[in-house]
Amino acid sequence: MTHDIAVLGGDGIGPEVVREGLKVLTAVAEVAGFSFKAEEYPYGTDHYFETGVILPDGAMDEFRQFGAILLGAIGDPRAEVGLIERGIIGAIRWDLDLYVNLRPIKLYSERFCPLKDKKPEDVDMIFVRENTEDAYAGMHGFVHKGSPLEVSTQTMVYTREGVERVIRYAFDIAKNRPRKQITLIDKANAVRAQDLWTRTFAEVAVEYPGVKTDHAYIDAACMWMVKNPEWFDVAVTTNLFGDIITDLGAMVQGGMGIAASGNIRPGEVSMFESIHGSAPKYKDQNKANPIATIAAVQLMLDHLGEKEAAGLVDRALANLLSGNRIKSLQAGVHATDEIGDMTVEEIRAL
Ligand code: IPM
Ligand code: MN
Repeated sequence: MTHDIAVLGGDGIGPEVVREGLKVLTAVAEVAGFSFKAEEYPYGTDHYFETGVILPDGAMDEFRQFGAILLGAIGDPRAEVGLIERGIIGAIRWDLDLYVNLRPIKLYSERFCPLKDKKPEDVDMIFVRENTEDAYAGMHGFVHKGSPLEVSTQTMVYTREGVERVIRYAFDIAKNRPRKQITLIDKANAVRAQDLWTRTFAEVAVEYPGVKTDHAYIDAACMWMVKNPEWFDVAVTTNLFGDIITDLGAMVQGGMGIAASGNIRPGEVSMFESIHGSAPKYKDQNKANPIATIAAVQLMLDHLGEKEAAGLVDRALANLLSGNRIKSLQAGVHATDEIGDMTVEEIRAL
């Protein structure tokens, strides 16, 4: 079996961390016995300034031919705020209709957790963030821009289909986890449009009698994440709340250096990335921590059906992180390529 992977290194540290991800992918493919072909694309802020094009016409059709897309990071302070992020990450999410943003939050070692007395068994959850609607749907505008009469709006959009499919995806995960628990996180007390989430969640829950359901408003959920993270098993939430609370989750598991995400449309081409940004100050210094990208490779392998390979990457990372070999998740403690090499070595030793 050969998997076709589109690779977008992107901006800042993106190309460096993706290089380590591909190094690990190459090693695990050899051990698990599959092959892959990686096709690299130059899109990102430099490419935009050189060509005036963020993504060329036809790029999306090309991406559809792949099994998966591996993305480094996008973002550069020289460009207009959010322009390239929306034009690449946003466009891939929307045009390929990658409606799930899967963000596992797992603590591999107590020493990485900033919370007092929290252990790996207390931080082991999966966030399912809706990935195509909400404030990200693009319904936004200004009138009287720049004048004292200016009005600016951005509409939170939810469709029954969009809400139901992501909730169903989250239930499917929950039913296969030992605790079989799912929490709906919303702000339906203030944002009444989210009553659609409340009702849809209740209706889907009927189909999953073995799954225990729970609910938290987003403000309280932030509190619980810090106070009692062990309460969460699977959580499903809206796009914007999911964006915010998974950065909090990333800190609870050790920081942005470790948190990965899958932008998924089940059975179709999907995109995998770290949740951190492009960290321009560390660009080309071999200082950035590539673990988040390596963890994204693990999610990608899972999506491609390479379960054995995904398991190998997971165990290699778990061994390196729970032992003392990876001293810190902060940039600059280990070299970028050193962590890639350690992971490869560990995979071969398993
Ligand atoms: C993320 C990022 C993006 C988002 C940005 C880059 C637009 O923060 O993937 O979490 O808000 O979704
Ligand atoms: Mn984010």
